[in-house]
Amino acid sequence: MVVSYRRRGEFSCCHARRLRFWRYRVPILSRASLNSVGVLSTVDFVVVGAGIAGLRAAITLAGAGQVLVVTKECAAESNTQYAQGGIAVAMGGEEDVALHLQDTLAAGDGLVEESAAATLVREGPLRVQELLEWGTVFDRDHGELMRTREGAHSLPRILHANGDATGREIGRALLQHALSDPRITLMEWATTLDLIVQNGRVVGLSLLDRAGTKHIVATRAVLLASGGAGQVYSDTTNPPVATGDGIAMAYRAGAEISDMEFYQFHPTALSLPGVPRFLLSEALRGEGAVLRNHRQERFMDRYHPLAELAPRDVVARAITRESLSDKPGEILPVYLDMRHITGMDLSQRFPGISTFLRQHGLDISRDLIPVRPAAHYLMGGVRTDVDGRTSLPGLYAAGEVACTGVHGANRLASNSLLEGLVFGARAGEAMRKETQATPTLKAMPPSQQTTTDTAAIHALRDALRDAMWRDAGLLREEHGLRRVLARLQSMEAQLPAPETRDAVELRNLHTVGTLIARSALARRESRGAHARTDAPEKLAGLPLHSCIREGQQVRFVRFGDESAA
Ligand code: SIN
Repeated sequence: MVVSYRRRGEFSCCHARRLRFWRYRVPILSRASLNSVGVLSTVDFVVVGAGIAGLRAAITLAGAGQVLVVTKECAAESNTQYAQGGIAVAMGGEEDVALHLQDTLAAGDGLVEESAAATLVREGPLRVQELLEWGTVFDRDHGELMRTREGAHSLPRILHANGDATGREIGRALLQHALSDPRITLMEWATTLDLIVQNGRVVGLSLLDRAGTKHIVATRAVLLASGGAGQVYSDTTNPPVATGDGIAMAYRAGAEISDMEFYQFHPTALSLPGVPRFLLSEALRGEGAVLRNHRQERFMDRYHPLAELAPRDVVARAITRESLSDKPGEILPVYLDMRHITGMDLSQRFPGISTFLRQHGLDISRDLIPVRPAAHYLMGGVRTDVDGRTSLPGLYAAGEVACTGVHGANRLASNSLLEGLVFGARAGEAMRKETQATPTLKAMPPSQQTTTDTAAIHALRDALRDAMWRDAGLLREEHGLRRVLARLQSMEAQLPAPETRDAVELRNLHTVGTLIARSALARRESRGAHARTDAPEKLAGLPLHSCIREGQQVRFVRFGDESAA
């Protein structure tokens, strides 16, 4: 039997080859009959996520078998697509690479795994060269690649595309390249439910398609490339799909999760009532934008010698401090100011940002733009080595969902697209060596016909996100962390069965929120993005990574040397 998911006019933002299940020829079934069918499939490799890491891995994997890429919405909806500033890469030889490494280590506040960071900066140029060969169009000036600067970079090394749409351009080129390979199949609107583990090995996963049908996919190996979890906070630059699904699934399956207390808050998300927390790229500050407080004074030089180009965690905390008011409940405004920039046409250099601001009544060249930090990037995730191997055989992870330790306690701006490329390619290479036969799995029972109260799910989700923002956000302390953990625990009994996408996402956010709060409570120091007001100093000695597995306490280890636990 074959299932075709395509319905006339239904997937308007999706791509032409989106729904090709390779073994089946499927009559188009009605929603009612789909709901009563459990679908069983087999494929060599499954990649969860169609952002930069997933697509790059799929391209490498296709040389070794059939690859199924599953994504929760259309392929154009991932964190990758929203990356504005660019991709940091040192293409000028050894010294340039060494300087990129030095900046990455410095931004990470002592916790960066040097071997992972060295891999990133050394292999980055080759991966970006590939992107150019596959048709990625970066901005150029007189034929030369243009480079901009962002916080904590010692020189301009960030390539960009269409001004402020770098992720979108890279995603476009990668998707086109991936879909030109007939061994890669894309399944959109698929919500992954759980990994299937047999005898300690990941042998498949279950998912829910858009019609509500459950599928079981048996496979040699699964790559999690499902991105971040910004939706765990009420204020985030991330799109709605970023609900930490990969981390939560890996945790439930027994994989080790690391460094969850390190959530990066981007300093400059737009702050207008009723308007989404739209990202205002750090590249704006790289091109000369400055920050002003409610008295319209510049303040960043009081916080760091690099002023507006200080590491991201420093700038985010400085903005938060400048917003504090003596009046309870009042948040003072902080502004991004580009009015003095005359040497460039800002609406041409930053077309996406200028257009968005214009739609909300602001002129990028003439107005002060109100900003506030918002959750942006998770440095922690499913612990992996530099080849994407997790602690569970058969399970790999790459990109934001993974934790190689490459970012330490605070990611260097624009290192994440490079991370997806380099570690996506490496994970793909490693997975190709998984040669065992694909297991035989049993079909799932048909979906339960649960009545889901969507309004109740949304109310719980909002409560969770608000509690996380208040008590496990940019500034934390023990009392608040215990309060949010108690709140999360009290929600547990109210979590609905994971039978719909909303319910699945809520369960995953709950898991991720709990992991963040537990790890933040356990780390009694302030380092990088983890700022404890009740423990403002760094602990002496070599910094350790937090690690947690289901059913266990948080422990602290040195990667590669578990005796430090
Ligand atoms: C930005 O453009 O500021 C975001 C880039 C990043 O998060 O690295």
